[in-house]
Amino acid sequence: MPLMGRAKITGVGHSLPDVVVTNDHFASYLETSDEWIRTRTGIARRRHGGPTSQLAVGAARHALSRAGLAAEDIDCLVLATCTPDQILPPTSAAVQDSLGLHCAAFDINVACTGFVYATAVATSLTASHRRILVIGAEQLSRITDPFDRSTAILMADGAGAIVLERSPLAEHDVWADLGMDGSLGWALFADHGGTFVMKGSEVFRQAVRLCSDSVSRLLGDAGCAVGDVSFLVPHQANQRIIEAIMTRLGIPEDRCLSVVEETGNTSAASIPLALDAAVESHRLHAGDTVVMAGFGAGMAWGSLLVKVG
Ligand code: ACO
Repeated sequence: MPLMGRAKITGVGHSLPDVVVTNDHFASYLETSDEWIRTRTGIARRRHGGPTSQLAVGAARHALSRAGLAAEDIDCLVLATCTPDQILPPTSAAVQDSLGLHCAAFDINVACTGFVYATAVATSLTASHRRILVIGAEQLSRITDPFDRSTAILMADGAGAIVLERSPLAEHDVWADLGMDGSLGWALFADHGGTFVMKGSEVFRQAVRLCSDSVSRLLGDAGCAVGDVSFLVPHQANQRIIEAIMTRLGIPEDRCLSVVEETGNTSAASIPLALDAAVESHRLHAGDTVVMAGFGAGMAWGSLLVKVG
């Protein structure tokens, strides 16, 4: 798959709702336990709240301030979400207005792979738009049945954002591997007005295979070895899926960014949330090579190699 363009990440931000939902909350009315949820998923708590646009605005403001930029410095806004505030207008319209941007803005829905797709598309747009805000924001609790123990414990709300800036340097080549197998749509879906329907073990199996194969192809195309990757940032769905992907790729655990314990599965927001936590804890530095790796409903997959500026 292609070389998308030349760009670097110059700001990262996050926004999480205030309401913390513990595993014990679910154990209080469902047949489950804190121990089961931690062991099978690695999740200890998650946040609930919204709406998606408000979370997106919070994350974008944070990323802009980290990049030292103002609204007028942004030339395009791309919002990845599968939980838009309304069917139309696109949620990016409300986000653009709240941020005071005067630029192109659009939504992308590739479920949990949305942020990787959005960053790939944004990179290709940097040829004509110098600085692009890429946001992943979700209110998954809105489309989750609180009485379905297999999904209620996983799905959560939050937003993460990056500023992606055009670069003339070859070291800032951004590579991507994007794919979709629409024949697996039945494994995870939500109808209009409905809630998640998931075949968890099938999603688990396919996610590990599709995602690790994608990263292998990506590294091959980019001419990179596993050792060149500073951090792998997988979609944060389940710690066991993350560990299986790392093992399959032969990447040591200490080079994985994971926040699933604190955030649960926030779909398109999960990768920038993990990036943000690494900036916050001073793990991520300028010059680091990051591989984002997404997978989810579709079934879609996508991986992307980019440098931190
Ligand atoms: N507490 C207790 N038992 C549970 C719970 C729960 N919260 N959830 C499911 N179980 C039960 C099941 O009912 C099943 O019981 P049964 O054997 O009597 O039928 C048993 O646990 C085993 O079920 P499995 O699905 O085999 O359990 P598994 O170890 O695979 O864990 C889980 C289930 C956590 C859902 C796992 O399959 C998973 O994480 N899958 C991937 C899900 C995912 O990543 N989805 C998001 C994709 S991204 C996107 O696009 C939104």
